[in-house]
Amino acid sequence: MATLEAHKHISPDSGKPTILHPNFNPKIRNWKPTDPLREEITPPKDRAHFADPDKKRLLSVATATDLTEGIGTLLEGVQLSQLSGDQLDDLALLVAERGVVFLRDQDLTTDKQVQLFEHYGILDKHPAQKSVRHVTIKGSSSDHRQDSVYTPWPQAGWHADTSFEINPPSYSLLRMEEHPPVGGDTAWVSQYGLFDALSPAYQKLFEGLHAVHTSRLQYDTILDLWGVGPNRPPIDTHHVAVRTHPVTGLKAWNVNEGFVTGFAELKKAESDKLLEFANWHIHSADDHLVRWKWAVGSVAMWDNRAVIHRVIPGKYEQGSRRGVRTTVFGEKREYIV
Ligand SMILES: [Fe+2]
Repeated sequence: MATLEAHKHISPDSGKPTILHPNFNPKIRNWKPTDPLREEITPPKDRAHFADPDKKRLLSVATATDLTEGIGTLLEGVQLSQLSGDQLDDLALLVAERGVVFLRDQDLTTDKQVQLFEHYGILDKHPAQKSVRHVTIKGSSSDHRQDSVYTPWPQAGWHADTSFEINPPSYSLLRMEEHPPVGGDTAWVSQYGLFDALSPAYQKLFEGLHAVHTSRLQYDTILDLWGVGPNRPPIDTHHVAVRTHPVTGLKAWNVNEGFVTGFAELKKAESDKLLEFANWHIHSADDHLVRWKWAVGSVAMWDNRAVIHRVIPGKYEQGSRRGVRTTVFGEKREYIV
């Protein structure tokens, strides 16, 4: 279990501490974020709109192999660092369609990765990120089930990156710089698949709802878990529970375990029960899932509008895990309500 400050302030008689007031941790109660909340922005036009529909500029030089029927493609024979703007546009379309694209043995540096990702839009700054350009993603050997007894945020749960943002991220790229030979895999689930798997009646139900995405639980926990204080105040944002992808036109589920706490239009009991179903639906989606084994130099690029993901918790006995993630902001207003 992680050594958590929160643990020291919980009475053993209090029952489940996750029901305590979120300011149970004095470090957080006294924390002063340095940055203001973000304003809504209109991001530049998605680069996938500029792609060749058959992605010929990319696929004439690279080999694409689908890893499952519905999600995940392995791209071989290219270095991302050498791709032209046209080829990067084709890559965006491939990512939007397949959810996540993987490459191995890439020679990208952090500077080159940042430069490449600026092609896709405005770089996101994670609320606990020091650099304005990228976030460092590490492995954690703590038992997330045990941690969740003492902290309210399901930090190892399925999520779309910072989906609580007013402009939730579209594309993310994670490049692994350090990795143990075993453990630390990441899995992605298709949100197209999650929507398609619902009965027509449930599709209609979710299409009429907004999910409440919040950073509050992460805010209350992150100082303990990551040792880094959040740089912005917490935020709650209502996003449609089913969105139409602006590039592919496909309907995608837009509910995740990590940041969604309920549904705006429902009574609390209804909302709690539907969220229970939603999390079960995600966890039982093996037929819409791809799992990736990392190595140093491996890259995954995904579309947070089309997939959710989680790291499979591990012990990291054979070494540590460290990756560099770059992310760009997506649109809010193109959601179909
Ligand atoms: Fe993530």
